[in-house]
Amino acid sequence: MEIQHQYSLKNHNTFGIEAKAKQFIAVQSVEELQLILQQNRAQNIFILGGGSNMLLTRDIDALVIHIDLKGKKVIAEDENFVWVESQAGENWHDFVLYTIENNYGGLENMSLIPGNVGTTPVQNIGAYGTEIKDTFVSCQAVAIKNQELKTFTKEECNFGYRESIFKNEVKDHYIITSVVYKLTKKEHKINVSYGDIINELTKNNISSPTLKEISNAVIAIRKSKLPDPKELGNSGSFFKNPILKKTDFIKIQQQFPEMKFYDISETEVKVPAGWLIEQAGFKGKRFGDAGIHKNQALVLVNYGNATGQEILEVSKNIQETIYKKFGIYIEAEVNVI
Ligand code: EPU
Repeated sequence: MEIQHQYSLKNHNTFGIEAKAKQFIAVQSVEELQLILQQNRAQNIFILGGGSNMLLTRDIDALVIHIDLKGKKVIAEDENFVWVESQAGENWHDFVLYTIENNYGGLENMSLIPGNVGTTPVQNIGAYGTEIKDTFVSCQAVAIKNQELKTFTKEECNFGYRESIFKNEVKDHYIITSVVYKLTKKEHKINVSYGDIINELTKNNISSPTLKEISNAVIAIRKSKLPDPKELGNSGSFFKNPILKKTDFIKIQQQFPEMKFYDISETEVKVPAGWLIEQAGFKGKRFGDAGIHKNQALVLVNYGNATGQEILEVSKNIQETIYKKFGIYIEAEVNVI
């Protein structure tokens, strides 16, 4: 365990942006993490997981602690379910593949989401009709202030659409070190109704899919729409899909009858931000090395040497244009640092 100075974070953020950490250390165990926190109490601390949901717009004048805790295991099981614990530093997709190989159901729709296990509860990641909260049991976290371990139950996490207590009430107070998911061993709850999954399966003549086949379908869809951060820097969806009051939406819809929407409750609808951005003419556009992906307008990309500031400018331009055109504010999903 060694602290490095003026350390480049380019390989630690999926946008591939160059920014330096004043100090940097990777920790491989909870004990190491506790020790580092204790020894550096006077320091500003910045926690880095997989770096898949952040936009770095400046150097980090702090001690960056990279959570590199590895390991996954079954901690309990009964006839129907298995409780699997993963350390925070495991790559999410590798973990999903491990559950599928063991025929544990529940995470297959979330195949290929970039990032590490430890950040999945922070923004309640989700895709194709499934969210982490559907299988999440609890997570363990270290308090930055006094290094004590605390277990957060699902109720305490207060999950919402890309939201949790970790983005709100306890933001910057805890570091998640491991997560427990409850998965099915049989009678898997197959959910293929969302979006293109069913079409992808039909195309391959699959009518009663296995977990692996669902995962493969999701991987194929994501690959066709979403850029691979290894080839083109990005952070997945840059914006959240805005949620509007039905009464407000109806007024906007009179002006834009073709606007797409999903009912989410009696009183609210969700509008796909990707549609709004495409309608505003941004899809596939490029401003220097910053741009909007050609297949999914919700994804901003770094064509090579874009700075975080340049990508931020593009995102502001999009937000302002959408607001002027539709009267709808779209909020960033990515953490802007
Ligand atoms: N759309 C457009 N133009 C675009 C993109 C989308 O018109 O450029 C329309 C589509 O035609 C479709 C609707 O918008 O009717 C929704 O598109 P899609 O199914 O691609 O999903 P999304 O709402 O844009 C969300 C998540 C993704 C997740 C997909 C699939 C958010 C912010 N994003 O995107 O999550 O993979 O659903 O479930 O909720 C991520 O969070 O990083 C992420 C990639």
